[in-house]
Amino acid sequence: MTSSLPQHSSSSTTTTTTTTNNNNNNNNNNTNPPSSILIVGSGLFGLSTAYALTRRHEFINTSITVIDRSDPSSQSTFPSPDAASIDTSRIVRADYADHAYAALCDEAQLIWRQQDKPIDLGAQGRYHETGLLVVGDATSAAPVADPPVEGGASESSHKKLTGMDYARKSWENVSSLASRDPMLAERIRELPNADAICEVLGTGGSSGAWGYINYNSGWTDAGASMAWLYEQVRQTGRVNFIAGTVESLEHDDTGVTGVRLQDQRVLTADLVMVAAGAWTGSFVDLDGQAVATGQVLGYLNITEEEQEILGKMPVILNLSSGLFIIPPTNGVLKVARHAYGYTNPRTVHFPPLPVSPTATSNCLVSIPRTSLHDPDLVIPAEGEADLRAALREMTPLPGLVDRPFTKTRLCWYSDTRTADFLIDYHPHWKNLFVATGDSGHAFKFLPVIGDKIVDCIQRNCPPEFKEKWAWKEGEGAKALFTEDGSRGGKPGLILEEELLKARSV
Ligand SMILES: Cc1cc2nc3c(=O)[nH]c(=O)nc-3n(C[C@H](O)[C@H](O)[C@H](O)COP(=O)(O)OP(=O)(O)OC[C@H]3O[C@@H](n4cnc5c(N)ncnc54)[C@H](O)[C@@H]3O)c2cc1C
Ligand SMILES: *[C@@H]1O[C@H](CO)[C@@H](O)[C@H](O)[C@H]1NC(C)=O
Ligand SMILES: *[C@@H]1O[C@H](CO)[C@@H](O)[C@H](O)[C@H]1NC(C)=O
Ligand SMILES: *[C@@H]1O[C@H](CO)[C@@H](O)[C@H](O)[C@H]1NC(C)=O
Ligand SMILES: *[C@@H]1O[C@H](CO)[C@@H](O)[C@H](O)[C@H]1NC(C)=O
Repeated sequence: MTSSLPQHSSSSTTTTTTTTNNNNNNNNNNTNPPSSILIVGSGLFGLSTAYALTRRHEFINTSITVIDRSDPSSQSTFPSPDAASIDTSRIVRADYADHAYAALCDEAQLIWRQQDKPIDLGAQGRYHETGLLVVGDATSAAPVADPPVEGGASESSHKKLTGMDYARKSWENVSSLASRDPMLAERIRELPNADAICEVLGTGGSSGAWGYINYNSGWTDAGASMAWLYEQVRQTGRVNFIAGTVESLEHDDTGVTGVRLQDQRVLTADLVMVAAGAWTGSFVDLDGQAVATGQVLGYLNITEEEQEILGKMPVILNLSSGLFIIPPTNGVLKVARHAYGYTNPRTVHFPPLPVSPTATSNCLVSIPRTSLHDPDLVIPAEGEADLRAALREMTPLPGLVDRPFTKTRLCWYSDTRTADFLIDYHPHWKNLFVATGDSGHAFKFLPVIGDKIVDCIQRNCPPEFKEKWAWKEGEGAKALFTEDGSRGGKPGLILEEELLKARSV
């Protein structure tokens, strides 16, 4: 993806303080590129957008700045250690109940699979196609109701999918994608019962009562892939990286003009794009469309013998519980739960930018709480018990299932109700664009999402995502819980309450 595209020459020092542009109304159907873009957040959404911008001729004169509270230009702080775009592994799967995302992953995988040259994204251990074993609960195995219920939030008859609905639909979609290609089709197989699941898992364990294996899916080393992306961006010489924490957005009567940092510096730009992941709601009132939810993760040190056995397993994802295990590398096994998660409602000091210039903002927001500012933070007992259950069921090696976790962690999603991303111009403030609402499944799109975001910036959003990614208004858009069917655990858990329970046990 790198070498074949033209590199733009440019001045390598750009500043964020350029506002002398007559194109200050991005909310019209105006595709004139802004003279300066300020991207808040150098996670997956922010950095991939910066990269895509450097590759578009239309933006050749645009100065591009990326700001992150965790210095993006230092290896020890990039990717931000408590953000979502880090870690040893992220699942790469076209296994979606929703066909548009399945197809988008299919497109991304063409690039993930390039591994011949060291410079290729998928090379040097950044991508592993180990297969994905999707399992679920057979008791709700009734055929999925029509019409599809995953559309935009405007759909009045929105119905919650169960994990099993999701697994079945996902199976239909990956089968259909594969039917065009006999090589792919050969690598997908239905597993009708626990024994068949056990055999494919190869750990001696089993989970779920129905499932399928898709050897076209796998996982990526997220930290290494972000480092790769950063290097591509750096080499263009087009992007100015700044370390700083955005406290609020600067605006005039109708539009956003820049950002104010905690140290009171002000940066201005013609277009501000907020891609601050689960933190976005702390300075932009998202009107309930996206909520920060904490997800539990556990890491275990394993022996060489255990590595030998478990290194051969596929990724396993139980869609009834949301629990999943990724094959270990370098003696570390990771278990996690893709669930409703915990919210952390907090009164924020600075009210986020109101929904419109005439509105006032609600200051109670779910704010990520991480071990970066809270070194003693543990995960709630409820979550730890679930991770333990996954080990017992999926990797039941003697001595392993009761071994204490080397490390546990809360990782934060920006969750929307339908699990669709939120990638759009703000409807009421000019010159503001948001790219968030990752809903815990965006990482796999690293090779392609930046381009799609730039299409949306140019008001040329891919038609299949235009509604899904749009800023939505009204009660129906509020993200109390993500109801796409992929989530396990209990809805409505509050982090503080669960932590208190943990202490009282
Ligand atoms: C535990 C876990 C497991 C996951 N598993 C998968 C998976 O298997 N497959 C998959 O495809 N996806 C997975 N995901 C989802 C994927 O990791 C995310 O969708 C993606 O990384 C989101 O990227 P982002 O850019 O939106 O957010 P982030 O990576 O969180 O980036 C936000 C950035 O904004 C910065 N920031 C925040 N506030 C401020 C501020 N005030 N000022 C300046 N900068 C700020 C942060 O430092 C951070 O760098 C998982 C996520 C988690 C948490
Ligand atoms: C960039 O700026 C140069 C010099 O002003 C101008 O000639 C060119 O047309 C501009 N290109 C684009 C794509 O805006
Ligand atoms: C996996 O799903 C099944 C339902 O098929 C459920 O009974 C079981 O508890 C789940 N196991 C784990 C470890 O999540
Ligand atoms: C994907 O699955 C949905 C739901 O089962 C179905 O309506 C759709 O036709 C599938 N797409 C393809 C390409 O098979
Ligand atoms: C786990 O392994 C790492 C690296 O091998 C090591 O530094 C660490 O001390 C180990 N932790 C435990 C609890 O064994």
